[in-house]
Amino acid sequence: MNNEKHAWWKEAVIYQIYPRSFQDSNGDGIGDLNGVTMRLDYLKKLGIDVIWLSPVYKSPNDDNGYDISDYRDIMTEFGTMEDFDRMLAAAHARGIKIVMDLVVNHTSDEHKWFIESRKSKDNPYRDYYIWKDPRDGHEPTNWGSNFSGSAWKFDETTGQYYLHLFSEKQPDLNWENPKVRDAVYDMMTWWCDKGIDGFRMDVISMISKVQSYPDGELFDGVYGNANPYVCNGPRVHEFLQEMNRRVLSRYDIMTVGEAAGVTVEEAKRYANNEGTELGMVFHFEHTDGSSNSESVIGKWTVNPPRLTYVRGILNKWQTELEGKAWGSLYWDNHDQPRAVSRFGNDSKEWRELSAKMLATVLHMQKGTPYIYQGEEFGMTNMHFESIDDCRDIEEINAYQQYVTDHKLVDAETMLRCFDTIARDNARTPVQWDASANAGFTTGTPWIKVNPNYTEINAEAALADPNSVFYYYQKLISLRHTTPIIVYGTFRPLLPDSEVLYAYEREMDGKVLTVAANWTDREQECTLFDDLEGEELISNYDSHRTGILQPYEARVILH
Ligand code: GLC
Ligand code: CA
Repeated sequence: MNNEKHAWWKEAVIYQIYPRSFQDSNGDGIGDLNGVTMRLDYLKKLGIDVIWLSPVYKSPNDDNGYDISDYRDIMTEFGTMEDFDRMLAAAHARGIKIVMDLVVNHTSDEHKWFIESRKSKDNPYRDYYIWKDPRDGHEPTNWGSNFSGSAWKFDETTGQYYLHLFSEKQPDLNWENPKVRDAVYDMMTWWCDKGIDGFRMDVISMISKVQSYPDGELFDGVYGNANPYVCNGPRVHEFLQEMNRRVLSRYDIMTVGEAAGVTVEEAKRYANNEGTELGMVFHFEHTDGSSNSESVIGKWTVNPPRLTYVRGILNKWQTELEGKAWGSLYWDNHDQPRAVSRFGNDSKEWRELSAKMLATVLHMQKGTPYIYQGEEFGMTNMHFESIDDCRDIEEINAYQQYVTDHKLVDAETMLRCFDTIARDNARTPVQWDASANAGFTTGTPWIKVNPNYTEINAEAALADPNSVFYYYQKLISLRHTTPIIVYGTFRPLLPDSEVLYAYEREMDGKVLTVAANWTDREQECTLFDDLEGEELISNYDSHRTGILQPYEARVILH
């Protein structure tokens, strides 16, 4: 018997929109809220339940909206609060929920709290951020920022440093200060009262810092690793329980924490079944570039991940969370390269089959699946010819530090690393059709469109009954109609295979067998040979006994 607690967000499929790259409605080359509203019918057709909207708040866009200067206003380029309200109502009218990105580990340096904070040591907002005296005339610790360089910035006005784990324009909030927490909870309540349906919490595992601020182990020969002192810190669970009591538990909303550095043990606490903290978390173990394969430097690599590694990690999360905490399922998002290019095969011959294979393997697992815009018709990585093609602050800073300043990596290698895992791969405009700029804008797009848009686009996918789009549509509708896909227990199969990804789900005496060929060659597989049951989905029309064809995936309920 299955006694998993039911919840709407466990039965839902989430679609992530990165608004800047989704749909431009007014020809300025930047996607916007009216663009999202325009495309709601498309999303309704796909069948998704929830949109996770990357940040749309007022922002100077140092990190594309992840640097917020006003939590209660909309980014000028994206539109107005009226546009937001219209989008929310139009989504709700179609039965689609909207989940907001909540970025509260840091604000923009242009937020009024920080403008005040930096004015003087006795300003009432001083303790909203983390200020430290110099140590021997230098930074208070050796910590590197996630976007290269030191995590500390000296401020002339008061002669102290402030902490920024991301860019200098993203100062970290001081969660030790109860006034900060009150202000955040008020703001969250304001959005919930507006009628939004949940939060995706940006780097929420980093809000509590070890108060002794020790040096970190050197990770690139220049800076120390802050993660052990800022990820899953001493008070993080206390803070989230407080947030849960004060805000989350008062609404029927979904929450997902982006939990950098999270272990399975920590995730069981964050996403515990008693519901005292969050609904679920994102972990990074299967997308961590540096541990998936030999890296060039830090996260930067040119190598594909190995099946045995990826599957081992995902199987571990599936089995360990069982009955204790809810999980989230994703291959990509706005911080990752495109799924089919990274884990599948984006060649002309195999792109569609491997995209469908990856979708099958992910969507039949236990947890809530996330689709990143364009994934549903198999968008691929970009090719970066020069640093001038890059827009992401992470890429620009890494290039500056490793190529230009320290000459640790040559330019060509760095660009090939970008082709492999840069965040801008996911941020090229959504390819809607074969017209100029892929139908994304009538103006000049803020970032180059992937030149393959003439072939790979939503319109072409909608016109082809065999497309990746309709395969996703079917996977989503299966989840809505087949409880074993949502609540069945998970059991890995063939855990040592170097070529097949297989597992079973089980509930109420029924079994769902899922197996896929991860390679572009035929592989032996006897799992289905003696199974009598119903085939729920497959990316091939005909099958062969004892064999899985290249990238073949099958799901049988028996
Ligand atoms: C998260 C976001 C990423 C952003 C960073 C800083 O990892 O997903 O896009 O750059 O936090 O806010
Ligand atoms: Ca626009």
